Amino acid sequence: MARFRTLDDVDVAGKIVLVRVDLNVPMKDGRITDDLRISRILPTLHELSRKDAKVVVLSHFGRPDGKVVPEMSLKPVAAALATALGSAVGFAEDCVGDVAKAAIDRLRKGGIVLLENTRFHPAEEKNDSAFARMMADLGDIYVNDAFSCAHRAHVSTEALAHLLPAYAGRNMEVELKHLSAALEKPEHPVAAVIGGAKVSTKLELLGNLLGKVDKLIIGGGMANTFLFAQGREVGKSLCEKNMADTARDILRDAVTRGCAVILPDDVVVAREFKAGAPSKVVAADRVAADQMILDIGPVAASRLGTVLADCKTLVWNGPLGAFETAPFDAGTVMVARTAAALTASGRLLSVAGGGDTVAALRHAGVAEEFSYVSTAGGAFLEWLEGKELPGVAALSATA
Ligand code: 3PG
Ligand code: MG
Repeated sequence: MARFRTLDDVDVAGKIVLVRVDLNVPMKDGRITDDLRISRILPTLHELSRKDAKVVVLSHFGRPDGKVVPEMSLKPVAAALATALGSAVGFAEDCVGDVAKAAIDRLRKGGIVLLENTRFHPAEEKNDSAFARMMADLGDIYVNDAFSCAHRAHVSTEALAHLLPAYAGRNMEVELKHLSAALEKPEHPVAAVIGGAKVSTKLELLGNLLGKVDKLIIGGGMANTFLFAQGREVGKSLCEKNMADTARDILRDAVTRGCAVILPDDVVVAREFKAGAPSKVVAADRVAADQMILDIGPVAASRLGTVLADCKTLVWNGPLGAFETAPFDAGTVMVARTAAALTASGRLLSVAGGGDTVAALRHAGVAEEFSYVSTAGGAFLEWLEGKELPGVAALSATA
């Protein structure tokens, strides 16, 4: 695991601490619909405040593309953060310059201010050094608590770590600890459940996992491409036919590396994709031309339960079927519940990540029962791909 300094290594009393968090939370009609990312940063913010730091919170929100987009203001998030913290949170309408400075000057020891969306400045995403110096000028110490943004080499996630004494926040620590337990030094056998729509977006990830896991369970739309590559009819299913050669390469590679790839034995098919559409279960090689695969079938789900029961570690990314639309959630729900039960009985270390995945586990009612659920989407994927994350690399380079 990458080595870095933590909040145990610094005296923050009276210091201005710039804390990068991920407040890129899902929002609908001005309300936050999932507060996982907020709840995960509370320990760091509470600790800094309790230790008398002046806490300056930095985050992006959405993809405003370097422009001031009022709908992407962090202002409503400041109010939600205050409620979650149980203490006041100030807000400054800019993340650099006089506006930010004035707000920071007003901070008392233990006080917290949130600065406006860092991505309102195009220089943020360019990792621009002049902009980095402007931001670094605001504070004495940098804390990165945004693992879910660590795949971005931006000023607030990367450059700042080189300009100020840099530390990992508690959430960053916990994320890295669990992810490392799941894939760097895991207890074998290790299973990975990889679902989601497309093979093309998860190619690198599959390649990396082949060398690390013992069982690679493929579900979701991706599985159709593999079934097709094996010469099976997939009807109207989502399928990347142009990826068939790649899928065959992956299957061959898996054999050489001793990794068992598990595809669904049976599938749930329907003529159309809509809630409550008439559906049936068929063997994976019996899909008719006018049908589409929308979930794994019960035989597959129960086989996966057996596979997981023999494993010690599970990494999960991506749903096994079109879980947002009943009844095509059944396979994902069943396997998620099995994994949760194995975790509860102490037989499995289970780590899940990715936006859809967390939503799927929540839907199955088991998100709390997994050993760890990462708040990261893109960063989780890049970590599964085996890539170095610039935000983490910067912290360890300066440790
Ligand atoms: C995320 O939601 O995955 C992170 O906040 C990063 O956002 P981004 O993909 O817009 O960089
Ligand atoms: Mg993203």
